[in-house]
Amino acid sequence: MNGLAGRSAIVTGAGTGIGRAIALRLAHEGCDIGIFDVEGDAAQTTAEMIRETGRRAAVALGSVAERADVARGARALADALGPIDILVNNAGILRTAPFLQTTEAQWRSIMGVNLDGIFHFCQEILPQMQERRRGVVVNMSSWTGKKGVPNHSAYSASKFAVIGLTQSMAGEMAEHGIRINAICPGIIVNTRMRDEAEVLNKAQGLPDVATRAQSIPMRRPGTPEDIAGVVAFLASDDAAYMTGQAVNITGGLWMG
Ligand SMILES: NC(=O)c1ccc[n+]([C@@H]2O[C@H](COP(=O)([O-])OP(=O)(O)OC[C@H]3O[C@@H](n4cnc5c(N)ncnc54)[C@H](O)[C@@H]3O)[C@@H](O)[C@H]2O)c1
Repeated sequence: MNGLAGRSAIVTGAGTGIGRAIALRLAHEGCDIGIFDVEGDAAQTTAEMIRETGRRAAVALGSVAERADVARGARALADALGPIDILVNNAGILRTAPFLQTTEAQWRSIMGVNLDGIFHFCQEILPQMQERRRGVVVNMSSWTGKKGVPNHSAYSASKFAVIGLTQSMAGEMAEHGIRINAICPGIIVNTRMRDEAEVLNKAQGLPDVATRAQSIPMRRPGTPEDIAGVVAFLASDDAAYMTGQAVNITGGLWMG
């Protein structure tokens, strides 16, 4: 247990995959959870799972890429749950393509969700955290936010940018009692993004996840629960002296 009882957390993209696992783990640690997602059915299913743990759950629907959606959603979730202690900016999308075939529309949509989404949510939530002189933010990057990978130019650029944004905000917010860290997962299975990537890889004759896992020192892909445990730690007072970090969770796939 990380002692998060009585705190409230917003998790973006908590409808499926890693976001759902983070929301459930934080609920098990005692948090009430605000879910912000584009997909209503998935978000409501996660909310039901949270209520089964005995914690409160609230849902707001919209796109993190749209400032008006975020402003409305952040307000609705804070109204439902009270002041927000923990913000997990998890929502993200992946579209792979060779650089020269990446369209401007693909570039903008990836930047819009993966990067602008964090900008919007932090601008909406940090002022209330500043006022209370407490708060924790965890931003979703990736190991491809530290190493550029072929056919991932837009995604990788967005995830590198998340680390720069995290470090810059962490430097400004530390004196206000707010800690901001990023996490950099490796290859994580049991998520929709990974399932879709596998279908594409197969179509292109690329190795499947089991084969690629052989190049991971731990010889297995990660699970959403592997990521959720680190988020619970970063959100807790056990991480009280950590800010501006970009923490790898890759089974050793990336160590830099
Ligand atoms: N799966 C991996 O291998 C892996 C590795 C590193 C980083 N990540 C990152 O983890 C995060 C979660 O990915 P996942 O693998 O769980 O994928 P996923 O597709 O299962 O989950 C993504 C969630 O975000 C939501 N979402 C998508 N666009 C949104 C938008 N515009 N506004 C609000 N919500 C939106 C989806 O509805 C979904 O609930 C992403 O940021 C992803 O880049 C994943």
